Amino acid sequence: PMLYIITPTYKRQEQIPDLTRLAQTLMHVPSIMWLVIEDAEMLNPQVAALLRRTGIKYLHMLAPMPKDQKMRKVKARGVSNRNKGLQWIRENFVDQNGVIYFADDDNTYDLRLFDEIRSVKRVGMWPVGLLTSYGMSSPVVKNGRVTGFYDGWVANRKFPVDMAGFGVSVSMIIKNPKGNMPYVPGYEEDGFLRNLNVKITEIEPKAENCTKIYVWHTQTKKNKAPAKVNATIHGQDNIWTLYQ
Ligand code: UGA
Ligand code: MN
Repeated sequence: PMLYIITPTYKRQEQIPDLTRLAQTLMHVPSIMWLVIEDAEMLNPQVAALLRRTGIKYLHMLAPMPKDQKMRKVKARGVSNRNKGLQWIRENFVDQNGVIYFADDDNTYDLRLFDEIRSVKRVGMWPVGLLTSYGMSSPVVKNGRVTGFYDGWVANRKFPVDMAGFGVSVSMIIKNPKGNMPYVPGYEEDGFLRNLNVKITEIEPKAENCTKIYVWHTQTKKNKAPAKVNATIHGQDNIWTLYQ
C-alpha cells in the first residue's frame, strides 16, 4: 500500500532545517507520496528546491490559514493544510489500499514507524513520545485491544491522542466525505477522528501493542531574528543576504 504523508508547514527561520530533517528521513521510506502543504500565500521557492532534490514523489501545495483564525491568540495550526491534503486524496485517483498519516514538519520519526503505518487497515494508533509532563501519550491496550488512553491532557476528548499518533486508511477518508479537521485548538485530532466516525473498538494498536515509541513530539527552539548588520567587508567574495 502507498503511504500518503501529509505535512503542514509555514515560513519561519527553522522551516528549512526542520524540513531537511524530515525529508532525509522520508528519503529512506519506499512507496510514499509526500503532500507538503504550506500555510502561506505563495510557495516558498526554498521548499520547492528542497523537495526537488529529495527524489521523493511529492506534491507542493498552498492552504493559507483563514484570516479569522490567524487573528486569534490560540490558533488551530496546520488545519487548513491538512484539510487541503484530505481534499486532494478525495478528488484524485489514489491507491484505495493506501494509508494517510499527518507528519508535522518538526517531529522526529523512527523509520520503523512507516512499516507500522503501512499495515493499517482502518485506523491504527501508537505511542508518541515527549508529550506533556507524562512524557508520552499512548493508547492503553488489553488483550490486543485498545481499552483507553494514557494522555496528560484528556480534556473531555473521546480520542485523547496526538496528531503523530494515528494513521487512517484512504478508504475511510473516501467513505466519510465529511471527515475533516475542525478549527478548534487542542481538539483537532479528536474532532477529525469523530468526524470520520471512528469507533474505539476498531482501533488497531501498532508498535508492538503500543509498547514502542517510534515518533517523538520534538519542537525546534525558536531562534532570535538575525540582527540587521551590514556584513559586507571590502574585498570579500561572499555577501550574505540578511533578512529581518
Ligand atoms: C501540536 C500537535 O502535535 C499538532 O499536530 C497540532 O496541530 C498543534 O499542537 C495544535 O494543536 O495546534 P505543536 O508542536 O504545538 O503541535 O504545533 P506546531 O508544530 O507548531 O504546528 C503543527 C504543524 O502545523 C506543523 O507542521 C507546522 O509547520 C504547521 N503550522 C504551524 C502551520 O502550518 N501554520 C502555523 O501558523 C503554525
Ligand atoms: Mn510541533
